[in-house]
Amino acid sequence: MAKNNKIAIYPGSFDPLTNGHLDIINRAALIFEDLVIAVAANSEKDTLFTKDERVDIISEATSSIENARVESFNGLLVDYAKKNNVFTIIRGLRTLSDFEYEFRMAIMNRSLDSSVETVFLMTDEKYGHISSSFVKEIYNLDGDVGSFVPNIALSYLNNLKNEKNNK
Ligand code: PNS
Repeated sequence: MAKNNKIAIYPGSFDPLTNGHLDIINRAALIFEDLVIAVAANSEKDTLFTKDERVDIISEATSSIENARVESFNGLLVDYAKKNNVFTIIRGLRTLSDFEYEFRMAIMNRSLDSSVETVFLMTDEKYGHISSSFVKEIYNLDGDVGSFVPNIALSYLNNLKNEKNNK
């Protein structure tokens, strides 16, 4: 049976969504007819934002991209992909140091399910230094992350800080 090559999944923790993620989403949406942005719900207890908050942030930030939608998944990515009849996984690459981890993950996913391929897209170099973990660290230390994340993610970060300060 021919594979459906028109749809791709862009999975991630997105805790929080960064401008680098958004750049990859825009690039992938130009290549594929349908793009599913898939928020991994597995490790929720370690995340700054709940699964639903992460989905809401991405939905709002990508509302103008008509062929993109946001979902969340539990369990293995390859099982989620198979269940949705999707065979293409998108991952973004920033620097050479991303490559080893991404390479291992792609090969592991392929050994779990040989029908799944990972397609790598390069971020614009202006986002090459941005990561969710840097954003969280800077945010936790009261630094300004406004130029690293979309406005809606910044609002969620600011609200979270206000809630903590009011406790
Ligand atoms: O943005 P991240 O945190 O680098 O994304 C990693 C993610 C969520 C894509 C990866 O951890 C994942 O696919 N998790 C789901 C569980 C799974 O399938 N694990 C096996 C990966 S080889």
